[in-house]
Amino acid sequence: MSALANNYNRKKLSFKKGKGSFLYTKSGKKYLDFVQGIAVNSLGHTNTHLVKAINKQSKKVWHVSNAFIIPEGEKLAKRLTQKTFADKIIFQNSGAEATEAAIKIARRYFYSIGKPKKNRIICIKNSFHGRTIAAINASGSKKMTEGFGPKVNGFDHFEFGDHKRLKKLINNKTAAIMIETILGEGGIKVIPNWCLRYLRKLCNRKKILLILDEVQCGIGRSGKFFAFEHANVKPDIVPIAKGIGGGFPIGAVLMTKKVAKGMTAGTHGSTFGGNPLAMSVGNAVLDQIFRKNFLTNVNKLSKYFIIELNQIKKKFPKIIKEIRGLGLLIGIQLIKDQNKFIQKLMDNNLLTIRAAENVVRVLPPLNVNKKEIDIALKIIKKVCKELKDK
Ligand SMILES: Cc1ncc(COP(=O)(O)O)c(C=O)c1O
Repeated sequence: MSALANNYNRKKLSFKKGKGSFLYTKSGKKYLDFVQGIAVNSLGHTNTHLVKAINKQSKKVWHVSNAFIIPEGEKLAKRLTQKTFADKIIFQNSGAEATEAAIKIARRYFYSIGKPKKNRIICIKNSFHGRTIAAINASGSKKMTEGFGPKVNGFDHFEFGDHKRLKKLINNKTAAIMIETILGEGGIKVIPNWCLRYLRKLCNRKKILLILDEVQCGIGRSGKFFAFEHANVKPDIVPIAKGIGGGFPIGAVLMTKKVAKGMTAGTHGSTFGGNPLAMSVGNAVLDQIFRKNFLTNVNKLSKYFIIELNQIKKKFPKIIKEIRGLGLLIGIQLIKDQNKFIQKLMDNNLLTIRAAENVVRVLPPLNVNKKEIDIALKIIKKVCKELKDK
């Protein structure tokens, strides 16, 4: 019996090693891994450049306190600010910590300008911002908050797409709107460009902040470095994690200098956040993602993958309802519950993972190749056929 608590519904499968898009079991069985730690291993398993970077840093220094200057973190922060809307960065260790910090930064900004009562955050009901007490309350999901009372005050919710309610919720206590640019756990629901632009305008008009959670959809996953770049908008605060570490736990919050003013010495901190080992890996991830044509290739493969998936959908309209997503954050929405479908894909050596609304999430590494996508397409087609013939 496992000594681990039962908070996960684990599949009876474990791996001995991984390389690129593939995972291998102890008995030598090979799986095409289109989960990649849920959009974490942006460069696949045991990427040579990342292995080199972590080995090199591990021989120099692993960890020093943020009480000292950490050059590897200075470098990563500078590279992120040079490429994005952000002027300042705070490093964390995970997505939930990053969204928590984003909430703190928004509240602290208004406090610092003499408006401490402006502290409420508006979020989409049943969205996903992580599993800490504040993050589950931000998500507003009954399933996630049940049994974890008392409710944390300070969050207001509207249903996805209900702009009337959103406008009504904004009052003189509102500090920010916080949404995922693409709802990941919620079923790969892409917020349309016009809507992101509308939200930006609304926030400007109401003098509140726009927080875009890019923990899952950021760092190249959508085909642009950030998903909101598709809409050409600039948020005020952006929590990131997952892809920036390529498998090493890193979280971060990006912000403008305006909001960063509130984060004076002592207002926030983290023992591990931004340590030299993590920062070296983060820099190595950026070396690859910032390479010329890296994102062009993500977009090319995404286009191919989505066109082909739509062909399969056309052939099996009673099984597949919709193909969703951007870049290599792809959702196959099924007509029926997706668990059996995911199990059958796994029986055929393709790993995928569920999301809400009967969606099968397909998350290849960003450096996947066409041959590997073709293997996945063949398996997906085969499973559709098996389920149709049943
Ligand atoms: C959009 C979003 N925000 C926050 C989180 C929480 O990240 P973590 O699990 O690293 O705490 C996730 C994780 O899936 C996420 O998808």
